[in-house]
Amino acid sequence: MPIPYTRAQIRLHWLVFILIALQYVLHEPMSEAWDVIEDGGSVAFDPLVFVHVAGGMLILLLVVLRIGLRLRVGAPPLPAEEPAAMKMLAHVTHLGLYVLMIGMPVSGAVAWFGGAEAAAEAHEVMRAILLALVALHVVGALYHQFVLKTNLMNRMRTPGRAG
Ligand code: HEM
Ligand code: HEM
Repeated sequence: MPIPYTRAQIRLHWLVFILIALQYVLHEPMSEAWDVIEDGGSVAFDPLVFVHVAGGMLILLLVVLRIGLRLRVGAPPLPAEEPAAMKMLAHVTHLGLYVLMIGMPVSGAVAWFGGAEAAAEAHEVMRAILLALVALHVVGALYHQFVLKTNLMNRMRTPGRAG
């Protein structure tokens, strides 16, 4: 009997998605502030820079909670009709997404609070990889929904268990 995602897992998935999307849409003030710091200048308080830092730290907290939950309650097995190679790709993508959801805020914090240029570079590289993985993830979800017709989206929409 497959174990569906819980209500908490589904809420966390979509909340973190919204927060990550905001980090990308609102990154400009943070990038500008960092350029000023790199050039040896100092930056005045900017609410959008604060939103990037606080939003990113919130993502870190929620992702740690999410991984804890995942380890405790598990996840449904991938649909049986999915080809083995795609299953492998889905697992690797999910793992990569978790790693980057931790790596992004950690590298950002080391850059911002520790003034480490290498961490800022890592943040930039990971930003591109995360975007590519999310694109792959969304293509995979749509492929399931409309080509394999496994109704996969429903797994992240309808909680099968309380909690
Ligand atoms: C999942 C969380 C995060 C995401 C998705 C994210 C995303 C981004 C993006 C898209 C940029 C623009 C990169 C560019 O201009 O090429 C950026 C820049 C930056 N972010 Fe974040 N960020 C996150 C968390 C954080 C946190 C928690 C901090 C600090 C405490 C931070 C500090 C910075 C800094 C200093 C920059 C400018 C340096 C650079 O471009 O690498 N970020 N972030
Ligand atoms: C920042 C963007 C996103 C991230 C970081 C993300 C991350 C993840 C991760 C790590 C999982 C695996 C959960 C697990 O089993 O442990 C997952 C599952 C899922 N995601 Fe996303 N996701 C994002 C956006 C989206 C979007 C936009 C869609 C819809 C088009 C989507 C649809 C799904 C679905 C349907 C599942 C369940 C897959 C399954 O049951 O095997 N995700 N997501």
